[in-house]
Amino acid sequence: MNARFVTSTLSAFLVMGKGEGIMDISVVNFKDKFKKIHEQHSYKIIAQMNNYHLKLVKVQREFIWHKHPETDEVFMVIDGKLQIDLRDKVLHLKKGEMVVIPRGVEHKPSCNEECKILLIEPAGTLNTGDAGGDLTFTELEWI
Ligand code: NI
Repeated sequence: MNARFVTSTLSAFLVMGKGEGIMDISVVNFKDKFKKIHEQHSYKIIAQMNNYHLKLVKVQREFIWHKHPETDEVFMVIDGKLQIDLRDKVLHLKKGEMVVIPRGVEHKPSCNEECKILLIEPAGTLNTGDAGGDLTFTELEWI
């Protein structure tokens, strides 16, 4: 048994969960990930935590009113400014800020200038929630 085999076997052992396969554990850098996103409004998955996806998106538009009856939704601003209209107030988020929109609460995100956002929500959550329509994005890729 050579040293390399021992090392790689040991590493594999250390990252294996109970009854699970080998996972790729590596650092995710937001800047590097955003460099791989060339279009606005194209949501990309960068990580999964349990059954939640962490998604990045570059946004520059006024979105539509919608809600997610089945889940809360996290918006974290990585760069730029994001406005989220609620029915009773308007939230202004800037770089380094986040908000949790509770399930069932209507919201309308918008950005005049390009904004870089991290979203955290269960896998399969639609960007347009219960509203549907042309802006519904379903072709999520991992980057
Ligand atoms: Ni939403």
